[in-house]
Amino acid sequence: MYRNALCLVLGLIIGIRLTDIFVYMRLTSENDMLYIETPAATPQVMPTESVNIHNDEHNDLASLLYNETRVFCMVLTMPKSHATKAAGVKRTWGKRCNKLIFLSSEDDAELGAVNLHVKEKRGNLYAKVRAGFAYVHEHYGEDYDWYLKADDDTFVIMENLRWFLYPFDPDALVFFGHRFRSNFPQGYMSGGAGYVLSRGALQQLNHIGFKNSIYCPSSKLSEDRHLGLCLSLVGVVAGDSRDEKGRERFLPMAPKHLLPHTPQGTWLDRYYFFRPQNDITSDTGISFHYVTAMEMHLFEYFMYQLNISGLPLIQKKLPPRLTIQEMQEKLNFWAKLRTNNNLQLVHEQSTSVN
Ligand SMILES: *[C@@H]1O[C@H](CO)[C@@H](O)[C@H](O)[C@H]1NC(C)=O
Ligand SMILES: *[C@@H]1O[C@H](CO)[C@@H](O)[C@H](O)[C@H]1NC(C)=O
Repeated sequence: MYRNALCLVLGLIIGIRLTDIFVYMRLTSENDMLYIETPAATPQVMPTESVNIHNDEHNDLASLLYNETRVFCMVLTMPKSHATKAAGVKRTWGKRCNKLIFLSSEDDAELGAVNLHVKEKRGNLYAKVRAGFAYVHEHYGEDYDWYLKADDDTFVIMENLRWFLYPFDPDALVFFGHRFRSNFPQGYMSGGAGYVLSRGALQQLNHIGFKNSIYCPSSKLSEDRHLGLCLSLVGVVAGDSRDEKGRERFLPMAPKHLLPHTPQGTWLDRYYFFRPQNDITSDTGISFHYVTAMEMHLFEYFMYQLNISGLPLIQKKLPPRLTIQEMQEKLNFWAKLRTNNNLQLVHEQSTSVN
């Protein structure tokens, strides 16, 4: 115990001084360190402007998790979708975020949209998300535990996201989502399914990645792939968010595409990092993609309002928090997996997915 604490303190001191060398070492010997000390040790502030959650829609576990695992939601949209898709997000799952903002190219105070001054076009998506992460880091980088990026056609079950994230230390360098393979070993997370960065990962991305074109070069890769490459170069581990049966919690398609059985022969086949053995949809699922505003209201009704006579509310206990050592083992396991996994490399032409 004492020795661990000493190592940690030494680690912090060295971390503060040698962050850059640290990163360099990471690039050469990937696996060992999970943490990189970040400059400002500002005390954490509880959000004051939290979006209302309706108590009658939430059991005790959900409201406990709301306080314990604070998730900032950053939703990509554009002006012409403010009143439709973005409004749908805000009226449904978005209200369960600890804080919700929309990234756009026009301010919209009522919606909560920020103008990032990046022209709306497909080739600019990476630039827009990057500007979004820089904005969020500057304004909210210390205030939340996890930072979710979603699209305005993503539906997220926030309670399940928090329940999944709760065991992990938000200062570990990790991100989670639906993992796609690529021509860099750990792959990246599908943009459409939404992905979530730890506070540590957000800081690492901003303090190291965005400041250095070696780590976050500009290129024509799609937004999600580009950001995944950048995160991997600054040592953020691509976590595994599958359930105990190997089913995916973050899904890059909607239930209408994936049920009753996982389809074969779709574009997804080319992207699986983990090819599903059976059906892909987890019963502790977190997100779906390609959900229309109308469907968001359907999901909302079926998930949060409709009661089934005789069925008890599902009341799960909090999962245990992982110790630093357990987390290190888990993340190193994933880090090793990415190099041992016999990956087929995907070529440049198949990049634009979402
Ligand atoms: C149905 O469930 C919701 C959410 O748990 C609850 O607020 C509501 O009172 C329930 N309605 C009935 C009729 O039981
Ligand atoms: C969550 O935090 C709020 C504000 O601090 C508090 O009023 C509420 O009781 C907390 N809920 C739980 C379940 O701990």
